[in-house]
Amino acid sequence: MLQRIRENWVRPALFFGNNPISLAGGAITSAAGVAMIGFWLLDIFARPTVNPYLGIIFFLILPGLFVFGLALIPAGVFLRRKKLQKTGQIPAQFPKIDFNDRMFRHGLDIVLVATILNLLVVSVATYRGAAYMDSPQFCGQSCHVMHPEYTAYKVSAHSHVACADCHIGSGAASYFKAKVNGTKQLLEVSFHPIAGVSKHMPDYPTPIPSPVQNLRPAREICEGCHTPARFIGEKLLVKSNFADDEKNTETQSVVVLHLGGRDSLSHLTGIHGVHLGHIEYVSTDNTRTTIPWVQRRNEDGSVTDFSTSAAKGAVQQGERRVMDCIDCHNRAAHTMQTAEDALNRAMAEGAVSPELPWVHKKGLELLKANYATEAEARTKIPEQLTAFYRSEHPDVLAVKPQLVQAAGDGLVTVFTTNVFPEMKVNWGTHPNHIGHMSYPGCFRCHDGDHTAKGGKAITQDCAACHNLLAVDESKPKVLADLGIQ
Ligand code: HEC
Ligand code: HEC
Ligand code: HEC
Ligand code: HEC
Ligand code: HEC
Repeated sequence: MLQRIRENWVRPALFFGNNPISLAGGAITSAAGVAMIGFWLLDIFARPTVNPYLGIIFFLILPGLFVFGLALIPAGVFLRRKKLQKTGQIPAQFPKIDFNDRMFRHGLDIVLVATILNLLVVSVATYRGAAYMDSPQFCGQSCHVMHPEYTAYKVSAHSHVACADCHIGSGAASYFKAKVNGTKQLLEVSFHPIAGVSKHMPDYPTPIPSPVQNLRPAREICEGCHTPARFIGEKLLVKSNFADDEKNTETQSVVVLHLGGRDSLSHLTGIHGVHLGHIEYVSTDNTRTTIPWVQRRNEDGSVTDFSTSAAKGAVQQGERRVMDCIDCHNRAAHTMQTAEDALNRAMAEGAVSPELPWVHKKGLELLKANYATEAEARTKIPEQLTAFYRSEHPDVLAVKPQLVQAAGDGLVTVFTTNVFPEMKVNWGTHPNHIGHMSYPGCFRCHDGDHTAKGGKAITQDCAACHNLLAVDESKPKVLADLGIQ
């Protein structure tokens, strides 16, 4: 047996393998292998901060070269054999292998060890390459098209959840689907510079369309981490508002949201509870904002249809969906705020100091101006803020120059985490469905205009969703009572 393998395989392989292509393949493979192992050791022991472009080299290109080199070895063998066959130069007997020859025996050992090592390297490289392609660095950072989503993601509550946990299902099929999709996008990105000139080249859309049509059902995505039945009960929400006057007068709203959930008696209650039942709807625009028809399945199995006065009870043409988490939490990982909300928050946190006269009015004006690129916004916003104080309030600039500078930086942060001129993501491009102040949100259905046959409407009663403890009050007493202010 061993003898046969030696006669029929080892000897011919060694004979044919002695050609430039196979030798070059061996060299490429070894070089790539050594570089990768070196990088992995560095990665394990030194933990360098991985630059996404280095990642592309070490997790995708080098493994590619490694496999390419490996493939060259049999290719060379095959070509040499074919060539010798053509010229009839294949020897009847391959050169004898002499196992008494120590040099040869060691050579064979080396080949054996190298093969095992190569197999190890290939499997580690495959694993690490796949893991890297799923990492937020790869998805969000090496692909500038994802810049808006990645930036918003980094400041979200989900900044430690991998993109793939929400966007790619488990199992080989969804992994493959995601990679095919990703490759298409990679091609679109690569052709982007040419696509402007020729219409025949694939190009990516700006902005990336939302909602994501092929996202898995939220039952699979969100419920891996959040138990929908968890009883949250009441949730206190405090929001600050600054006015457009000289003093940036601050007022606050305090609401207690009836979030509910499944209570200890298994009753579904509150905002989460009601919609965990079965609600279907049809939307007729591409952001799921216009909803003319809604159907609720009641506990006894009967259904109640609600429709707008314009729809008059008819099921409309459009996208039909069963309501889930994403119909309210559509921006869970990528909240792009409105300019007003973002500035109010930055001022409440002190990033833009409310001490500066007129800073709310002027700041909003600067945030909403047109900038062709992010770089332009980064220079113009602080420049023009300083210019404003220099001409209108030189006394302020003289006494508090650091506050003005910090406010400029704060405005830049607000702008660059919400607006992405290069990707055509502007204020309001991606509506957030969670409330009803900035976008229709809950009022897409709860607008009082969605009525059932008997005349019953989907409620717009403020108290159904929350207790309003204070609406735009200055220093609300309730906050003092709660010990918050
Ligand atoms: C907690 C889950 C979650 C995580 C983590 C997450 N996303 Fe998303 N993402 C979503 C949801 C949900 C939507 C769909 C919004 C919709 O359909 O209305 C979305 C939408 C998108 C879109 C479509 C455009 C848009 O703005 O709506 C892109 C692109 C995207 N995500 C990229 C990423 C990248 C890149 C990462 C990692 C850096 C990431 N996502 C991480 C949940 C997530
Ligand atoms: C891999 C786990 C994971 C997945 C999947 C996930 N989340 Fe989360 N979620 C978290 C963690 C961790 C937090 C942060 C908790 C904290 O900060 O207290 C969080 C926080 C939240 C919050 C509260 C913070 C906020 O932004 O107001 C909401 C709402 C939320 N998730 C909704 C969702 C939705 C909707 C989905 C599905 C699209 C989802 N999550 C998918 C882990 C996950
Ligand atoms: C009808 C709309 C709606 C649906 C559907 C919905 N939520 Fe919520 N959820 C809300 C609102 C409103 C809040 C409170 C928002 C806030 O804190 O600003 C909230 C808050 C949360 C929070 C944060 C709770 C906390 O303690 O701060 C989590 C986590 C969450 N939802 C997860 C989910 C998951 C998972 C699903 C799907 C099973 C889901 N939600 C479906 C409206 C909804
Ligand atoms: C797609 C349509 C739709 C959207 C969007 C929607 N809801 Fe509802 N909601 C319903 C339907 C349908 C009912 C059941 C109405 C009924 O049976 O009278 C309901 C019932 C409720 C109830 C119970 C009302 C009661 O009388 O007890 C609350 C509370 C509620 N929704 C809160 C919210 C909140 C908060 C949001 C936004 C975060 C929201 N809903 C978004 C369709 C919607
Ligand atoms: C269908 C449910 C629903 C109804 C009806 C409703 N709200 Fe709300 N409201 C919400 C939710 C959800 C939020 C929290 C949004 C968030 O998390 O940012 C909210 C937040 C608020 C806030 C504070 C948030 C802010 O941005 O200032 C005020 C004020 C408010 N609602 C007023 C009202 C008034 C007044 C009515 C009655 C005309 C009303 N709401 C009806 C669901 C509802």
